[in-house]
Amino acid sequence: MDKIVVLDFGSQYSHLICRRIRESSVYAELVPFDISYEELQEHSPKGIIFSGGPSSVYNSKAPMPEDKIFEMNLPLLGICYGHQLIVNRFGGKVKRANREYGSSLLTVDEDRDLLNGVGRSVRAWMSHGDEAEEIPPGFQVIGHTKSARAAAIASEDRAVYGIQFHPEVVHTEQGTKILKNFVLKVCGARQDWTMEGFMESSVEKISGMEGNVLCGVSGGVDSTVAALLIHKAVGDRLKCVFVNNGLLRLDEENEIEEMFRDNFKVNFSSIDASKGFLGRLKGITDPEEKRKVVGEEFVRVFTDFAEKSDPPFKWLAQGTLYPDIIESGVSKGPAAVIKSHHNVGGLPERMNLEILEPLKELYKDEVRQIAKILNVPERLFMRHPFPGPGLSVRIIGEVTPTKLWICKVASRIVEEELLEAGLYGKVWQAYAAVGDDKAVGVVGDKRKYGSVVMIRVVDSIDAMTADWTRLPHELLEKISNRITNEIEEVTWVTYAVSSKPPATIEPQ
Ligand code: XMP
Repeated sequence: MDKIVVLDFGSQYSHLICRRIRESSVYAELVPFDISYEELQEHSPKGIIFSGGPSSVYNSKAPMPEDKIFEMNLPLLGICYGHQLIVNRFGGKVKRANREYGSSLLTVDEDRDLLNGVGRSVRAWMSHGDEAEEIPPGFQVIGHTKSARAAAIASEDRAVYGIQFHPEVVHTEQGTKILKNFVLKVCGARQDWTMEGFMESSVEKISGMEGNVLCGVSGGVDSTVAALLIHKAVGDRLKCVFVNNGLLRLDEENEIEEMFRDNFKVNFSSIDASKGFLGRLKGITDPEEKRKVVGEEFVRVFTDFAEKSDPPFKWLAQGTLYPDIIESGVSKGPAAVIKSHHNVGGLPERMNLEILEPLKELYKDEVRQIAKILNVPERLFMRHPFPGPGLSVRIIGEVTPTKLWICKVASRIVEEELLEAGLYGKVWQAYAAVGDDKAVGVVGDKRKYGSVVMIRVVDSIDAMTADWTRLPHELLEKISNRITNEIEEVTWVTYAVSSKPPATIEPQ
């Protein structure tokens, strides 16, 4: 398979470069900027991209790739900091400039190779403080903006290019086209990155592995796809285990069991551990404490199951995705942050098993494509994200059977109504939460003191920030009526209109 390697110099957009290239069916991988020459050679790339980054090339501590990488004579594309790096490296000059941030008009001077078919003038996203003052010998300017004379440069015979703007962000019109020109026209990469191809090669790879595989499934798309892929490769040597913690959405445990056992016919065990989880949560009101208890209990139940198995397992399968790998620090740039939500804290370390992560090269939408190919019901893979600690973070205060029931039924109503209104797929998350607040209502002629349910519906791109969704009033009214009519214990329904920040998506 042909591959493009992206050296990460720390831009928050670095992984988007890979994302965009893969949209053109060419495989791209992000690696640290200081990858060794030998390691890079092992990738056998068809071309190399230098990402953006916060540094200045003229700074003595500026991150630089290993020298020998330039001797590989591979096509090179530098983006933003990467552009300046190329200017510097090939003998041009970079200087401090007025900071430019936002959209600029790029005028295309040479409609060949990199900028071919892009149009005469397009919007391009800039975010830089330095610029090329002198371009290196043998290079020519192929695009400029009002403030950056050398916004795009090329040395076509060496296949080396630099662009000051970010083609990977959606604000750059034709950005994908520019990247596509680089990978297809300049590098000549084949478009052989397809999910069918990926499935075939991973099944082949996994079938060569010996030993039994244990896979914890949650009903989420990642663990489901990981399990099904492994099942294709090793059949009954795979055992899927589902731990019912009693904190799931209404009926979820039955749906999951039916799907794995009856639909997909995989070797499946469901452990009803709800009593243990709910018992341990009794009396606990602190949100972090609840998370900790749920995490610990999961590890206990899961390891207990694994240790008792005969014959023993050799592998522990996980639905880790590529962004998880990037987040936990494969890339050395400042964009690397450690995931804050650890649901199964320390599970792999505690179990003496080897880790199998068949999806670790994939982005979420690629996993969804595989889910489609494998006939995973659409309802499942289009379902909203659900927190690992389940409804314990949507029940404010102590988790009691009544609050749990209210939360389940009210959330089901919210989901059903959004689906019916055609809005479910358009929002990030939608659910009902409940706490200990009570409010007076009237039923017939009698006053009743009942629970207050809070509806939370948010729009978001990555859950880092979120905005509350402006749902039509009629829809809110319908949801409210259904909740108070169908759940006897509820008298009031409120709608959360706080965005993140300062609020978070989950109330606990
Ligand atoms: P917050 O509430 O932090 O949530 O704005 C951001 C996203 O993460 C989900 N979430 C969690 N997911 N374990 C998880 O797996 C957790 O402990 C957890 N807490 C929040 C939340 O649903 C939202 O999508």
